Amino acid sequence: MNILIYGAGVQGSYLAHVLVQGGHDVTVLARGKRAEELETEGLIIRHYLQRKTTVDQVRVIRGLASEDVYDLIFVMMKYSDFEAVLPILANNYSRHIVLVGNNMDTYAMKDYLSKNGKSPKQVVFGFQTTAGTRMDGRVICIRGGHGEMVIGSLEGQIPFRTLLEQAFSRTKYKLNDQDQIDAWLKNHMVLVVPMNMVILYHQFQMKKVVRDDKRMRQFVAAMGEGFRVLDSLGYPLTPARQASWITHYPNFVRWALKLFFMLPVSRWIDGTSTELAALNETFAEWRSRSDVPTPNWDALEAEWLNQSYLM
Ligand SMILES: NC(=O)c1ccc[n+]([C@@H]2O[C@H](COP(=O)([O-])OP(=O)(O)OC[C@H]3O[C@@H](n4cnc5c(N)ncnc54)[C@H](OP(=O)(O)O)[C@@H]3O)[C@@H](O)[C@H]2O)c1
Repeated sequence: MNILIYGAGVQGSYLAHVLVQGGHDVTVLARGKRAEELETEGLIIRHYLQRKTTVDQVRVIRGLASEDVYDLIFVMMKYSDFEAVLPILANNYSRHIVLVGNNMDTYAMKDYLSKNGKSPKQVVFGFQTTAGTRMDGRVICIRGGHGEMVIGSLEGQIPFRTLLEQAFSRTKYKLNDQDQIDAWLKNHMVLVVPMNMVILYHQFQMKKVVRDDKRMRQFVAAMGEGFRVLDSLGYPLTPARQASWITHYPNFVRWALKLFFMLPVSRWIDGTSTELAALNETFAEWRSRSDVPTPNWDALEAEWLNQSYLM
């Protein structure tokens, strides 16, 4: 199968590796320094927990022309980067597109591609549950199993499920179908934004995060507020158990996160202010539409915005 990975960062690189191992013809769209690294050194991944390094050779392109047709395109980038590539995807004749990553605008993105696509498109959304960072031309990948993507369509059934199954058939990578993918992504944002405000506040110094009990309490409380906002606006809480645990057992959640942040592996988790700001900005609008008070979220946001402004 002819597959394009659009975006060769942490998540895209791991997926490219999986699909190359699965026997496919994999092309990676990369830009600038990353494209050069891939061309000269190959796709290097340090699988941190597995204590191994892999090097794969992939075809690298720097742009996507209309006629470059792929059986499947996975777009693997930050929420704040999707907007720039939607017109390029619309202009391309490929049919099957999976937009992977944090996303607050699934309906608008799908709508854009339907209205502006040069050819009919089937668009689904995913979130890859691996993590990691980039360092010296290689990706450090953190994963428990062989990789997994939560995936779903806004219409219920994924229209090209069989094609996806074929893509992963010779791999151990799991597709975890989610029939409320839009709500799932919004619930996930509620976890990511307050926690990352504190992590970025301490500039990824996880020991400082662990010692900062006040802000750790605040971010767990802010997650609970976020779920209440979603609920008040009619979004399903999914997975339901996640929201329930965080709202009912905040102390347990805080201590579990402290333990995780104490592990060396936690320092490899990546995040940027740009994506965080974009996610938070969208959610700020929803908070203003809801009558649920969000004092903890507001306090973290004010402090984080103030700090970003000073930097
Ligand atoms: N990394 C993690 O630990 C982790 C964990 C869970 C979820 N996620 C989520 O997964 C998503 C992807 O994250 P990531 O860590 O893979 O991000 P990333 O490392 O920044 O990778 C994104 C890639 O897309 C490329 N890109 C962005 N805009 C582009 C454009 N217009 N044209 C071509 N390439 C473009 C970037 O190019 P450059 O190389 O030039 O930057 C980069 O290589 C995000 O929503 C993130 O929050 C990440």
